[in-house]
Amino acid sequence: MSAPVIVVGITGSIAAYKAADLVSRLVKADCEVHVVMTHGAQQFITPLTLQTLSRSPVVTDIFDGTHGWKPGHIDLADRASLLLIAPATANVIAELACGLAGNPIGEIALATLAPLLIAPAMNGKMWQHAATQQNVATLKARGAEFIGPEEGLLACGYEGLGRLWNVEGIAARALDIVRGH
Ligand SMILES: Cc1cc2nc3c(=O)[nH]c(=O)nc-3n(C[C@H](O)[C@H](O)[C@H](O)COP(=O)(O)O)c2cc1C
Repeated sequence: MSAPVIVVGITGSIAAYKAADLVSRLVKADCEVHVVMTHGAQQFITPLTLQTLSRSPVVTDIFDGTHGWKPGHIDLADRASLLLIAPATANVIAELACGLAGNPIGEIALATLAPLLIAPAMNGKMWQHAATQQNVATLKARGAEFIGPEEGLLACGYEGLGRLWNVEGIAARALDIVRGH
C-alpha cells in the first residue's frame, strides 16, 4: 500500500518551531509529508529545516516552478490524503473562511478534496474575537476539523486559550484520519 500523503501547512505563529517535531513524527510514521509555508512562517523557522525533516522540497511560493509542468501546489492538492495546518494563525483561518488563494496554503485548501485538519495557535483575545470564532464556525460548517487550541501560558505573556495543541496529539489525530479511523 502506498504511504498516505500529508500536506502540512505552517503559518506565521510563534509556535511554528513545533511544526518541525510534528513533521518528524509524521515521517517516522511512514507518511509522505510535504510542507507548505507562508511568508510569515519563514520568519519563525526555515524551509531548510522542514525540507530536511520532511525529505521533500518545501513550497513557499505559489509561483515556484520546480515541480514539472503542473503547478506544485495543484499537484499536492491532487495527491493529498490530508491537509493539516499547524500552527494556523488567525490570519490564515480568516483567509480559508473567505476562500482566499493569495498564498499556497489557501490555494491547496481550495483545490483539494482531502480532509482539512486545523490546529490554531494565537493570543487568547485573537482566538476569542468574534471574527475568528465566526471564521472557525464557517470552516467547521464546511467540514473542517479543529484540534485545540489549549489553555496555558501563551508566548505573548498572557494566560489563556490559544496554545497550539500538543504535537503528539496533533500527529495522532492526523494519523487516525489518514488511516480511516
Ligand atoms: C513574535 C510574533 C508572534 C506571532 N504569533 C502569532 C500567533 O501565534 N498566532 C497568530 O495568529 N499570529 C501571530 N503573529 C502574527 C502573524 O505573524 C501575522 O498575523 C501574520 O500576518 C500572519 O501571516 P500568515 O497567516 O500568512 O502566516 C505573531 C507575530 C509576531 C511578530
